Amino acid sequence: MNYKHTRFFLSLTLGLGLGLAGSASAQADEFTNADLEQWQQDFTWTVKKGDKLFHSPLGSNTVSCDQCHPNAADTHPETYPKFQKQLGRVATLGDMINWCIQNPAQGKPMSLDDPRMIALEAYITYERRGVPLAPGKH
Ligand code: HEC
Repeated sequence: MNYKHTRFFLSLTLGLGLGLAGSASAQADEFTNADLEQWQQDFTWTVKKGDKLFHSPLGSNTVSCDQCHPNAADTHPETYPKFQKQLGRVATLGDMINWCIQNPAQGKPMSLDDPRMIALEAYITYERRGVPLAPGKH
C-alpha cells in the first residue's frame, strides 16, 4: 500500500468513525419532562396567538379569516402541499394563507417564516388535528 492509499484509508476510517459517533450522539439526544412541558406550553401559546390573528383583520380592510372560515372550516391543511389553481403551482399551506391575505383581506403577503404565519399555520392545523394526511387532495 503506498502513501496515497494509506491516507485514503485513514481518512475513510476517521470519517466513518466520526459519522458513527455523530449518529450515536443524535440518538442520545434526550429530553426531560420539564422540556416536554415547556415545548407544549410554547406550542399552545403559538396556537392561541394564531387564533387571535385568525379573528383579526390582517389586510387593509376589516375582513378577518374567521368570517369565511369559522373554526378554520374549509382550510384543509391536511391536503397540502397540493396544486392550487389560483397560484398555478404546487403550493404550501402558507402560500394559500398569503393568497387569502392578499385577496379577500387585501393585504401584503407575509414571509413564510414570519412568526405570525407560523402562528396561523399552528392554529389552522391544530383545529384539524386527527384528520388523516391527504397531500394533493382536492
Ligand atoms: C371573503 C372570504 C375569505 C376570507 C376572509 C378568507 N378566505 Fe381563505 N379562502 C377563501 C376562498 C374563496 C378560498 C379558495 C377555495 C379554493 O379554491 O380552494 C380560500 C382558501 C383558503 C385556504 C385553502 C383551502 C383549501 O381547501 O385548500 C386557506 C388555508 C385559507 N383560505 C386561509 C385563510 C386565512 C388564513 C384567512 C385570513 C387571512 C382567510 N383564508 C380569509 C375565502 C376567504
